[in-house]
Parts: sequence; C-alpha cells; structure tokens
Amino acid sequence: MLSVNGTELWCEDRGQGTPLLLVHGFPLDHTMWAAQIDAMAPHARVIAPDLRGFGRSRLGENAGAITMERFADDLAAMLDALDVCQPIVFCGLSMGGYIALQFWRKYAARLRGLILCDTRAAADSPEAAAARRAMADRVLGEGPEPQVEAMLPRVLGETTARLHPHVVDGVRRVMMSASAAAIAAAQRGMAERPDMTAALGRIACPTLVVVGQEDASSPPAEMRGMAQAIPGSRFVEIPAAGHLSPLENPAGVNAAMLEWFLTVS
Ligand code: MLT
Repeated sequence: MLSVNGTELWCEDRGQGTPLLLVHGFPLDHTMWAAQIDAMAPHARVIAPDLRGFGRSRLGENAGAITMERFADDLAAMLDALDVCQPIVFCGLSMGGYIALQFWRKYAARLRGLILCDTRAAADSPEAAAARRAMADRVLGEGPEPQVEAMLPRVLGETTARLHPHVVDGVRRVMMSASAAAIAAAQRGMAERPDMTAALGRIACPTLVVVGQEDASSPPAEMRGMAQAIPGSRFVEIPAAGHLSPLENPAGVNAAMLEWFLTVS
C-alpha cells in the first residue's frame, strides 16, 4: 500500500524497464489487465493500480465527486512514491482513458507514450451527465446492482456474451464487489469531465488507439476519428471484442500492445 494524496493506493508492480501504467475502467480494478500484465512484464515495468476507492485501494475523505484530474493527480503521486522518474507509457481503458487525457494535460513531460483503449475524448451530453448523477444517487441507496445490470450488457461484445459466459460472470463479480461510494464518486466525476476533442491534435507523444470491433460504448468509428486527430497515432481494431477488449480478446490486445510498445520503449 502506498500513502498518497490522503489515501492508500494499491498497485501491482512487476518487471523492469520502461514503465507501463495500466489504468482500469469503471467500475473495475487492476485485475482486468491480468493477461496484459503477464504478457508485458517480460518487456516492461508494469504498474497496474487500483484507482482510489476500487479494488484494494481506499476511497479517502471527501469523495463527493472524484474528477478525472484527481485520479490523474493520484497516479502522478503514486509514481513519485514508487520512485518512477523516467517517462512512462500510460495505457487507460474507458474511464482510464479519460484519466489518461487529464494526465497528458497536466504531466505531458512524464509521458513516453499513450495507449487509449475503448475510450472517448468527448464530454457527456447534459442528458448523459444527468443520468450519471441519478445513477450515483440510486447506487448510494441500493448498492452496485443497478449500475452493474445497466452496464454489463453494454460493455461486453456480442461474441463474449455468446461464447464466453465465464468472462461475463467474472466481470459481473468484480463490478458487484465495487463499493457504492466509489461508484457514485466516479460517476459524478465522469459527469464533470471536460471535452478533450479539440486537444487531441496537440498530443505529441507516440499514441496507440485500440478498440474492440463490437464496442458499443466507444464505437470503432468514433475511435478511428480520435486516432485521425492525434498526429502520427496508430489505430488497431480488435476482432471478437466489445468495450472491454483486453479481457475479451486478450491475445489480440497483447499482440497490438507489445508490437507498438517495442517501437517506443
Ligand atoms: C468504463 O468502462 O470505464 C465506462 O464505460 C466509462 C463510462 O461510464 O463512461
């Protein structure tokens, strides 16, 4: 456990070399990266945190809304606590990608590269933000179930739903174990996130954009547009995968990640 920014954060820290930070989506934890940790640890120092409030990490005080900037500040402080001085590759999925863009905005000098997985640059519409706040209130009263049941069919691809029930069960288990307070705080933080679309053209570090072909939340066409806006980025579509592509097609994501990583590390 690392004491940072008034809370206790946990991370898996394995391997040596260029640091590769793997930042999970919502409402998950570092275990969503299990296959990537195994595949990348022979080539990198892989650091896979549980974000504030999720997995083994504590929520801390005053968690009304955890903004994406605050998560990014936590990660910068965590890297300091781990004595990581060299530039990192920041890989974030979905909410982890929202955090990646805030990390880039504040700490660009600490970045060797970015991997944006199944994520978006756009902010929420007013209706989507209101729905997040309503879900936050509901989860605080009822627990994680309404959030999980609303999300699960949307985040897993059709192939996973049909052929890989153990993946569906595993994702449901992790989501159901998330604390209601953390779910509510992260939902309120995502509702506040800024629109980063206009900033994409200023990203100057090497960037890999990865999306599952069956991703209904951050669809391939939208992510292709993000990649086109980021100078020199590489775009890879992962077959037979939805929004949680690293879990749904780990071999496909590992291959894309490793091939690109070896060119930047
Ligand atoms: C995620 O997977 O992190 C979520 O889909 C993010 C979101 O709710 O926008």
